[in-house]
Amino acid sequence: MTVKNVAVIGCGTMGNGIAQVCATSGKSVRLVDLDQATLDKAVAGIEKSLGRLVKKEKLAASDVPGILGRIRTTTSLEDCADADLVVEAVSENADVKAKIFAELDRITPDGSILASNTSSISITQLAASTKRPDKVIGMHFMNPVPVMKLVEVVRGLDTSDETTAVVNALSEELGKVAVPANDFPGFVSNRILMPMINEAVTCLMEGVATKESIDEIMKLGMAHPMGPLTLADLIGLDVCLSIMEVLHRDLGDSKYRPCPLLRKMVAAGHLGRKTGRGFYDYT
Ligand code: NAI
Repeated sequence: MTVKNVAVIGCGTMGNGIAQVCATSGKSVRLVDLDQATLDKAVAGIEKSLGRLVKKEKLAASDVPGILGRIRTTTSLEDCADADLVVEAVSENADVKAKIFAELDRITPDGSILASNTSSISITQLAASTKRPDKVIGMHFMNPVPVMKLVEVVRGLDTSDETTAVVNALSEELGKVAVPANDFPGFVSNRILMPMINEAVTCLMEGVATKESIDEIMKLGMAHPMGPLTLADLIGLDVCLSIMEVLHRDLGDSKYRPCPLLRKMVAAGHLGRKTGRGFYDYT
């Protein structure tokens, strides 16, 4: 199967990047979110991001109108009826995602693939809310999507070889590298990354060092491109907390306990870049 029509559900940090790379590679994209103002903001963000690529001479200015023209926004899931493949990228909440998968199962043609960009939630569990578990798969893009090469491709218990092959081919078309992982909490990327971020927040809470020192030590000492607290702000502290909660609950090991300071920051609404304040100030 060749994917021509893609639907992206959720146009936040990840959804708008996914829509951008799909439209750039010639796909017709339906972008869905709860309200039009959020969708308009996402499209403005995509326009800005394309503008940056033009400035860096990575994209021809003449291509921009065509890319934007391929993205159509909607607040109704029903408009995904012609999607060959859906990438769900709504907030990291298992109940919300399961509901969307059940709806998509009803709305989209039987042959369509339903992918989730979840960071940690079980693909097998999401698949169970559909009647096509063989066509449900994890397509875990990295942030920022237009820049990062990896797509972690996660097979659920019943995901078919055919579905995996289509998603691998699509990832390649998008200029990405698909790397397989099995369906365990946090897969590979967040099983390793998130406990490190959580530990960095614990270091800050315990006064082991300032936030600047923690980030600088990991940058200069471990050759990380950005420090863990800066990265947490980029990912979104609510997303980080949700992932730690999944690791803690589903693996049942206290080593995954979310740091109390991370909980406090989320409770205060300081979610990182997207709210203007996290460990650092972005206003
Ligand atoms: P976000 O909070 O920036 O955006 C989520 C979007 O989903 C919002 O625009 C919200 O209005 C929308 N939404 C919520 N419920 C909806 C519904 N029922 N129907 C339609 N839209 C709905 O979240 P973000 O960071 O983009 O994360 C999305 C997914 O991607 C999560 O599963 C997250 O774990 C995953 N992810 C996040 C990464 C990151 O760095 N932020 C990296 C890789 C994966």
